[in-house]
Amino acid sequence: MNNKKLIAPSILSADFANLSTQIRSVELGGADLIHCDVMDGQFVPNLSFGPLVVEAVRRITKLPIDTHLMIKNPDALIKDFIEAGSNYITVHQEEVVHLNRTINMIKELGAKAGVSINPSTPISALSEILEFVDLVLVMSVNPGFGGQKFIPNTLKKIETLASIRDEKGFKFLIEIDGGINSDNIKVVSKAGCNIFVVGWSIFGADNITASTMELKNFINTID
Ligand code: DX5
Ligand code: ZN
Repeated sequence: MNNKKLIAPSILSADFANLSTQIRSVELGGADLIHCDVMDGQFVPNLSFGPLVVEAVRRITKLPIDTHLMIKNPDALIKDFIEAGSNYITVHQEEVVHLNRTINMIKELGAKAGVSINPSTPISALSEILEFVDLVLVMSVNPGFGGQKFIPNTLKKIETLASIRDEKGFKFLIEIDGGINSDNIKVVSKAGCNIFVVGWSIFGADNITASTMELKNFINTID
């Protein structure tokens, strides 16, 4: 059982004209990681940013950077994102053909290695890789955009992953990404999730620090 509970604000919903102020605000609220959503307009129908922005984030904060690659052929850019300062690199199971090789490559380059699955991908697709990864990111919306609605069957996936981890003694952290807010975060935490990516519910709030604090309190006090 892994009881670690961490908040990872996604800067996808931040105001990029005030990125350093907004990152300071989530730091003050107790953020544990900064989540960077990288989109290429190919793997997902939206474009976001590349290593240049991750490198800027690296200069703003000392928090670990959690980079989520929603791109075609991530192998070609993994090194750049690690050199830019990413501590975690997560790739999608649906995109990577030689997943074992890619996970090894991320680790050899000095980062923690994560694998992500879309809402329509079953946990069974990860059976041969779970023992090698540091992180499993479960998408709870179809990737591409912030501010979407949480897909409820994701909860079952978190529970399944947590029980496989317990049963087999694996070490990976479980991360949820998409549609997390103050109404659903407790139940997701109870299901065994460790890292909570939050975009709109933090950066769309009137008080970014207060909303980060509130969500952090919720994951740490499950009743
Ligand atoms: C979606 C991204 C998410 C998203 C989370 O493709 O991977 O990180 O920005 O944002 P919210 O919390 O707004 O759903
Ligand atoms: Zn993400």
